[in-house]
Amino acid sequence: MDDELDAMRPASARVYGWALGGKDNYQVDRDFALRTAPAFPEAIDITRQNRLFLYRAVRYLVGAGIRQFIDMGCGLPTDDNVHQVAKRFAPDVRVVYVDIDPVVLAHARALLAGDGSTVVITADFRDPEGVLAHPEMEKMIDFEEPLAVLYLSVGHHLVDADDPRRVLRTVLDRAADGSRLAFSQIVCSDADRGADLDARMSAAGIPWRNRTRGEIDELLKGLEPVEPGLVNVVDWRPDPDQPPLAPVPEELAPFVGASRLGRDFCEYGGVLRRPVRRGRGR
Ligand SMILES: C[S@@+](CC[C@H](N)C(=O)[O-])C[C@H]1O[C@@H](n2cnc3c(N)ncnc32)[C@H](O)[C@@H]1O
Repeated sequence: MDDELDAMRPASARVYGWALGGKDNYQVDRDFALRTAPAFPEAIDITRQNRLFLYRAVRYLVGAGIRQFIDMGCGLPTDDNVHQVAKRFAPDVRVVYVDIDPVVLAHARALLAGDGSTVVITADFRDPEGVLAHPEMEKMIDFEEPLAVLYLSVGHHLVDADDPRRVLRTVLDRAADGSRLAFSQIVCSDADRGADLDARMSAAGIPWRNRTRGEIDELLKGLEPVEPGLVNVVDWRPDPDQPPLAPVPEELAPFVGASRLGRDFCEYGGVLRRPVRRGRGR
């Protein structure tokens, strides 16, 4: 029954995964992407730009000494998942992958390092207390050591009623000094297009809240963005030599390059530190 339901409604994980060249998707996901792309042709580029940002953000975090990651809304496994990127630079990392979509768990083999250093849990990141209380979390994460919590290309799935500020801060507030938050979400500064996107996503059953850059700056106020701050993710420590993604599927190829036409629609984000608590060093 769940499989039948899955095949009838587009899912964020599968639509996004398709744009990255993934194979784990249904006709309903591909139809939704093809229906949406003419109005939002930049979406294909920005999906891929976000995934390239994930690589650079994780590499930066490992370089900053982070060895434990909580990847909220990790999506379907693809080529360079968080633990694979991180282990390239430090073999001793531990990763907890979290996604609400059980299909992610079903395809999780690629997310497991096979040495007990990665785990995948099905949970709702809008309930961060519940995620933190998951038994696997206690086994994998040492809250006395710095960690990184990743909310990459998921901010738009947090609507105002979810209290996104609370959601985004809960893990970080529990974490040791030196911990970081990596964040990105789709932004659209054109109010009409933003409202159109909200309506299309909501009609498809995907919770969605377009935001402007200013709204995200406000949401993350109180945290300290590392250089270059909160930006269009293409401008976050760009690296032309980073490993490329899998090719875009043929049906989406006509939309590739559309993000060059304008920058009012993009993935906006960065990496932020929680200010050090008074009297606690690090
Ligand atoms: C656009 S994908 C992003 C994947 C990955 N973070 C990346 O940046 O490549 C969004 C993912 O968030 C997941 N998601 C959406 N709402 C969620 C929630 N409330 N709790 C946990 N996962 C959620 C979706 O199932 C999907 O896999």
